[in-house]
Amino acid sequence: MIYEWDDGMKIGYTEIDAQHKGLFDFMSGFFSSSGGRMEREEVEKILDYLEAYTQVHFSDEERIQVENNYPGYTQHKRYHEEFKIVVRGLRADLEREGPTPELIAQIDMAVGSWLVDHIQTQDMKIGNHIRDVQRWREQMEVLRAANMRQYQAQE
Ligand SMILES: [Fe+2]
Repeated sequence: MIYEWDDGMKIGYTEIDAQHKGLFDFMSGFFSSSGGRMEREEVEKILDYLEAYTQVHFSDEERIQVENNYPGYTQHKRYHEEFKIVVRGLRADLEREGPTPELIAQIDMAVGSWLVDHIQTQDMKIGNHIRDVQRWREQMEVLRAANMRQYQAQE
């Protein structure tokens, strides 16, 4: 797939959006000119990156969900764990069969469809939830200030 970042994929949380864009930039560096063939070393670099990425990025996302009482946290975390298993499987395939075109196609599929779909559907829901929480907190603050003025006026 062509890894071209598009601002429509932003979930509205700067840190997470930057990490998602980072993934696109990284992947496009490998897939824009590969023609479906890569050296073992390149495939290793991609898998190293994905392993580190899923550790850091997924736990950042999970932390943000907890901080904002995201109701879909358990399900979302399960999706993340599933993807980590997929990456482990890709690593095992590389060890067993080397950098075959099938493996490269699988990596492309895993990141290109699984992760992109995950960003556009699941991660987007987190962004929407955080905006709702933010709006609710602002409304509460307005209400609290109004109550305070009323209370002070009564004194
Ligand atoms: Fe996620």
